[in-house]
Amino acid sequence: MIKFLLRTRGPILTLREPYHAPKRQEALCDLNIIFGGFVGIDTESGKINYLSQHPPEKSLMNGRCVEYDAGARVIMPGFVDCHNHLLWAGSRAHEFFARCKGATYHEIAEADGGIAYTRQKTLDATEDELLENGRRHLRMLADHGVTTVEAKSGYALTKEGELRTLRAFARLQSEFAGTIVPTYLGGHLIPPEFADRREKYIDEVIQTLAVIRREKLAEFCDVFVDPLALTREEGRRILLAAKEQGFLLKLHADEFGDDGTSALGVELGATSVDHLAGMGSESIKKLAESGTIAVLLPATMFFTQTALNAPVRELIDAGAAVALATDLNPGSSLVFDPSFVLTLAGLRMGMACDEAINAHIKNAAFAVGRGYTKGSLAPGMDADIVVLDTGDYRELGYYIGADNVDTVIARGRFLKRRGCLTDTLAGEAMLE
Ligand code: NIG
Ligand code: FE
Repeated sequence: MIKFLLRTRGPILTLREPYHAPKRQEALCDLNIIFGGFVGIDTESGKINYLSQHPPEKSLMNGRCVEYDAGARVIMPGFVDCHNHLLWAGSRAHEFFARCKGATYHEIAEADGGIAYTRQKTLDATEDELLENGRRHLRMLADHGVTTVEAKSGYALTKEGELRTLRAFARLQSEFAGTIVPTYLGGHLIPPEFADRREKYIDEVIQTLAVIRREKLAEFCDVFVDPLALTREEGRRILLAAKEQGFLLKLHADEFGDDGTSALGVELGATSVDHLAGMGSESIKKLAESGTIAVLLPATMFFTQTALNAPVRELIDAGAAVALATDLNPGSSLVFDPSFVLTLAGLRMGMACDEAINAHIKNAAFAVGRGYTKGSLAPGMDADIVVLDTGDYRELGYYIGADNVDTVIARGRFLKRRGCLTDTLAGEAMLE
């Protein structure tokens, strides 16, 4: 039964074709739009159960059904933020302003700033402080239309500290109608106390994997391969152990140069390789021929003032499945707004708005292993839905810093609801 019915005279971006596969090449330009229509939700299952240009038969709406008239506004799937560090303690505002004066991300990290700085603050924080930080970030993401968010650990870098972060993600999920996809990023950095016995730290990460698996605290395992962090061989050791234990894989790869890490990700069958600003043409070819998703993070290149940009046109032309995300974190991208990622994807990488929307929703859902339930509007998919406060979806990247997300629904429940739409409710909302 339809318990909640959204209608618009404006466009519904369904993103539905192809079913159950990421969009590549020309398909990336197609938002599969219906002009004017109805989206029905079964609020008990949190699934879409009706989508059509025509109103549903009365028999499908037996009992109480709330109608929600969006006027001529855009209805679209919620954003999927498939690369996100979600939770940490402390601020690195001082680093941001040092960068404004010309210091680079790597110079700051080498001078005892960077991930190691956030690590100390995170280890010193109480559990409540961490949870409050996570709640605040989730609120800000949801306000910008994010209904699914990946959450990476990686700011504690001790066994107990990483488990504490992952347990905090589970607690946040129990309070949040949207979806959190947890990732263990024990390989974010070699902690300073392991500087001259790096192998021992890798052993510890591998031992921690078993506990995480047992307690089902993470789906993905990620590593950061970079001169600041892990070598490719150290990353490989962790990922091979993770794969053996049933984790899906992600890699921070080729971020500031072509270090062969994206090729390693393809070789290991990773779900995604992320960043890629420095990747070379050989790696592009390998990636395009694989099922691995290329997650591009233009906000990171902007925030760190790095001139490089991921070779998005080459990737798309070669046939790679490209996704976008915020990379929300305190050091290299304190960005909560997918709309701003769309702006940068357009201005700095030459992506069309339609391509960028598909990349930040449909393909991003595949990058977190949720392509079968999220990232498009169709019967059977989760009811993760955004209503914009405009009838023109291109305003998403074009209106910079604007609050153009009117209403956000995750699995049939409101995450955000603004006045102009509630006025048109044909009864008290059944949803919280
Ligand atoms: O994705 N590259 C590694 N990790 C983060 C940065 C983390 C930090 O600086 O705190 C990133 O850019
Ligand atoms: Fe990251």
